Amino acid sequence: MNHSPTDTSAPTGTLAPTRHDPIEVSPIRAVNVALVPQRSPLRYPGGKTWLIPHIRFWLGKIDPSPRLLIEPFAGGGIVSLTAVMEGLAERCIMAELDPDVAAFWQAALRSGPELCDKVLRFRPTREAVEAVASIRPSDPVDHGFRTLVLNRTRRGGILAPGAALSRAGENGKGVASRWYPETIVGRLREIAEHADRIGFRETDGIGLLEELLEARAGSALENPSDPVVFADPPYTAGGKRAGRRLYTHNEIDHHRLFELLADSGARFLMTYDRSSEIVALSRKHGFHAVQVTMKNTHHARIPELIITPEPVFVS
Ligand SMILES: C[S@@+](CC[C@H](N)C(=O)[O-])C[C@H]1O[C@@H](n2cnc3c(N)ncnc32)[C@H](O)[C@@H]1O
Repeated sequence: MNHSPTDTSAPTGTLAPTRHDPIEVSPIRAVNVALVPQRSPLRYPGGKTWLIPHIRFWLGKIDPSPRLLIEPFAGGGIVSLTAVMEGLAERCIMAELDPDVAAFWQAALRSGPELCDKVLRFRPTREAVEAVASIRPSDPVDHGFRTLVLNRTRRGGILAPGAALSRAGENGKGVASRWYPETIVGRLREIAEHADRIGFRETDGIGLLEELLEARAGSALENPSDPVVFADPPYTAGGKRAGRRLYTHNEIDHHRLFELLADSGARFLMTYDRSSEIVALSRKHGFHAVQVTMKNTHHARIPELIITPEPVFVS
């Protein structure tokens, strides 16, 4: 099952919950990804651009506005980027365990102009892409650039071992079909402009949550909204395979994640595939889940869950 949405304009109510497992349908639709600003230079498998209207609604209702958004499983980072760039959170901190993805974020945030320069000079022939892929550079900017090239030239943006290069590509341009240097550079420049408000750590997202949420529990908070968490872990609960195929790092202690969020009392929004294990975990902790239907790249309708500690998306 491919979770990379291209057209997500499916009405949210089309996949009815079963009688035995009723889950409310979110009144907000999964948006067609063409309708929201694409801010990430990465085309991320399982990316959450379709979720942006929910994120705007959720963060927009939090008063006072959060100073810190934590995104423990960053991937393409679309939610953090949108929150900071649209002023929905003052700052964000993202965590990512995959060293290749981490190298990209470090290069984008610390060495934006150098990375842009490499993008503009690169000619994406099959030979050039294979040459970039063949070595893992020790220079951090070259490493970040390599991730960007592989992400934009492999089928579905998949970086996990075994991912194939795009062959025909969408418009017969082969490996170059998703290499739009001006667009990529535009996004990198916007990220560089906001880099002082975007934090990144190459680390385990659960560990980062333990550190930051436990600090929250032990302190008198200046801003009672802080920090808020957006969690989009690999979908591997209940033996699901999608997360395994798409990401090199995919083993998450889902029970621990739920427990941590419950114990912290922090505001959060989590997304998951609709598996019975996740529905049960959500109920166990008294969380609220709604369902949204999005369409994946093969136009299959996929029900996703949006989980919050209290009802947020109600008709
Ligand atoms: C579903 S994707 C996130 C997609 C992201 N929300 C987006 O819109 O692009 C999950 C990400 O978590 C990363 N990951 C897996 N295990 C992790 C861990 N323990 N800590 C941090 N990141 C992890 C994977 O490498 C993958 O990039």
